[in-house]
Amino acid sequence: MNRIRIRRPDDWHLHLRDGAMLNTVVPATARNFGRAIVMPNLKPPVRTVADAAAYRERILAACPAGSDFEPLMTLYLTETTSVDDIRQAAESEFVHAVKYYPAGATTNSDSGVRELERVYPVIEAMEKHGLPLLMHGEVTDSDIDVFDREAVFIERHLEKLRSTFPGLKMVLEHATTSDAIDFVQSAPGPIAATITVHHLMFNRNALFEGGLRPHHYCLPLIKRERHRQALVVAATSGNERYFLGTDSAPHPKHAKESDCGCAGVYSAPAAIELYAEVFEAAGALDRLEAFASLNGPAFYGLAPNEDTIELERTPWQMERELTADDDTIVPLRAGSEIVWRRVD
Ligand code: DOR
Ligand code: ZN
Repeated sequence: MNRIRIRRPDDWHLHLRDGAMLNTVVPATARNFGRAIVMPNLKPPVRTVADAAAYRERILAACPAGSDFEPLMTLYLTETTSVDDIRQAAESEFVHAVKYYPAGATTNSDSGVRELERVYPVIEAMEKHGLPLLMHGEVTDSDIDVFDREAVFIERHLEKLRSTFPGLKMVLEHATTSDAIDFVQSAPGPIAATITVHHLMFNRNALFEGGLRPHHYCLPLIKRERHRQALVVAATSGNERYFLGTDSAPHPKHAKESDCGCAGVYSAPAAIELYAEVFEAAGALDRLEAFASLNGPAFYGLAPNEDTIELERTPWQMERELTADDDTIVPLRAGSEIVWRRVD
């Protein structure tokens, strides 16, 4: 197959940042994706409906002329989030979920939750209002190996959360392990997982290929090959519990190439093309549309996009670096060949 036409995809997990950076990263996503769940880990975080409304306006202002890209906003769950904040979010037209970060787990997570049980009343309100809980599913304990933190989160918290709130819509974001897939595959109730393209493409060797590779450093970390394979099987299965979430997370080059580099892979500029590459390698291009364009809206209770995009097998070269205002960002697959290209 040299061409594929699919309904316009959506990105169910995206970091757009703020300020001048928006002018670079919003168009990169808006070119191919109809909508995106926008992560709230700004500094300070997006805590309230009013914060989300203001942030949404800044994103819309950075959209290219004529684009009808729709940012789907999220609130950042803190230990001071109230039941009323949840009610307001559920009543708003544009807040679609609440994001849980364990305090200290990742970029701008210091305002996150220290003890999950403390926010149970707020989670109960989310269950009542049908507002999904998006989880950064990792524990942060320093005595737990960094490669095991997702599996330990699942073991310690996920089943308890699910059985306490059986009606709660939950998304295990950026699933990276076979443990995550095992859980999501068989748990009763409205549970799903997003899967990034870099976790589908790479195993953890990619962090050390010929030297230290800071542009492959993200959280949760990329895992062993057997985990990557489990993610590919899940993503390409057509199962509606799995959908596309890039976790595209731009950082300036100097912040990545540093003695204490930031976590995040900037995949937005070729995300849908790279997912196509992964699906093709798995012999499952015919299931790309379910994963990229249908399963996500179904979970969120939204209609799929009406229009379509077309991808063609015409290799092109990804830039080595992209300019964003005064900064430089190194995209995923910088300087290398991308097999598929958006053509229409
Ligand atoms: O690698 C990551 N980068 N993982 C996250 O959870 C956050 C993200 C970011 O915001 O940079
Ligand atoms: Zn993220």
